[in-house]
Amino acid sequence: MAETAERARQLTDQRAKFEVDDSVAYFNTANLSPLLDSVRAAGEEALARRGKPWTISPPDWFPDVEALRGCFGRLIGATGDDIALVPATSYGLAAVARNLTAGPGDRVLVLDEEFPSNYYTWNRFAERTGAELLVVEREPGQTWTEAVLDAIDERVGIASVPNVHWTNGALVDLQRVAPALREAGSAFIIDASQSLGAMPLDVATLRPDALVAVGYKWLLGPYSLGYLYLDSSLHEGEPLEENWIARAGSEDFSRLVDYRDEYAPGARRFDVGERTNFQLTPMSLAAIEQLLDWTVPHIEATLKGRTDEIVARTETLGLIAPSLEARAPHMVGLEFPPEAARRVAAALAETSVIASVRGSSLRIAPHLHNSQEDIDRLVDAVASAV
Ligand SMILES: Cc1ncc(COP(=O)(O)O)c(C=O)c1O
Repeated sequence: MAETAERARQLTDQRAKFEVDDSVAYFNTANLSPLLDSVRAAGEEALARRGKPWTISPPDWFPDVEALRGCFGRLIGATGDDIALVPATSYGLAAVARNLTAGPGDRVLVLDEEFPSNYYTWNRFAERTGAELLVVEREPGQTWTEAVLDAIDERVGIASVPNVHWTNGALVDLQRVAPALREAGSAFIIDASQSLGAMPLDVATLRPDALVAVGYKWLLGPYSLGYLYLDSSLHEGEPLEENWIARAGSEDFSRLVDYRDEYAPGARRFDVGERTNFQLTPMSLAAIEQLLDWTVPHIEATLKGRTDEIVARTETLGLIAPSLEARAPHMVGLEFPPEAARRVAAALAETSVIASVRGSSLRIAPHLHNSQEDIDRLVDAVASAV
């Protein structure tokens, strides 16, 4: 019954909307997504317009940016007021770290093998404040959710936890982690780069203090335009820089040197300088509009159908996937025998199957561009190598 409902939510073939051709079978969205035609067209149009600056007048510096904030807000259950536009997660995390306090005796919780932009930010924060960096490891057979819940106590003052581990798609159940952190009195930061756009996430339910995400993976956007959500308790904080456009009244270009103390409302003060980003913003907007049109639950169900099929077919070849409850719907790390590593990498390369091979693990990250032929090609390549 549940399976029938899931199948009913799957989208029909969307490959024609993407810039992919049959020469490759691309399973590396977790690294860099393929581009939608609509996203590329938006970028080309924006570039052409940028070539004619006389067509860009002062009011044009704002509407796309505001539309993008609104669209991203809809995706996570927030409003555009809560969103700042940032070039990278490291920038968003640095802005958050600047506005949190901790000291000796406090702990800052991160996962083992967390993405480096998180690790370095919180490690630097711990060094600066005297807090302790607590790197949570998993015992064999333990899920990330269990490991994180075990590590939370009143000493944890800040926790930076994703809902999907970037290395292999292992899940952290934030619905369980969020209340435990709240009860411990800890700040809660989510790096949703590896899930947003492919898994529903609602900040109104999870109530994190902050969330960061890159735009170029599951959000199908360009590189260098990412997002920072901030709870309203952080809106009055100190930004990393003092760009003119983040100040109140910046819409009036004739009065920019009537310097103002007030910032633009909401989280806007945390925008990176030059956030108008004439070329990239329309691309990001086109991408998120398409995601909202497909809807995230439908994307999720469709990608889950693909990863489930890949897991089922590669399991019979001896590859090991995390259990169904412990893996993300859209990306999965498959363990193969270590002695086959070189052969697997060579077989994939030979048939132009692009996935991420790391040690004796294969990270498969499909999107809606992937066809049944792509899946067959991937499974055949693995079969020839193990
Ligand atoms: C979980 C996660 N966060 C962040 C990033 C990118 O970080 P940044 O935007 O700081 O370059 C990646 C890229 O792979 C990632 O997997």
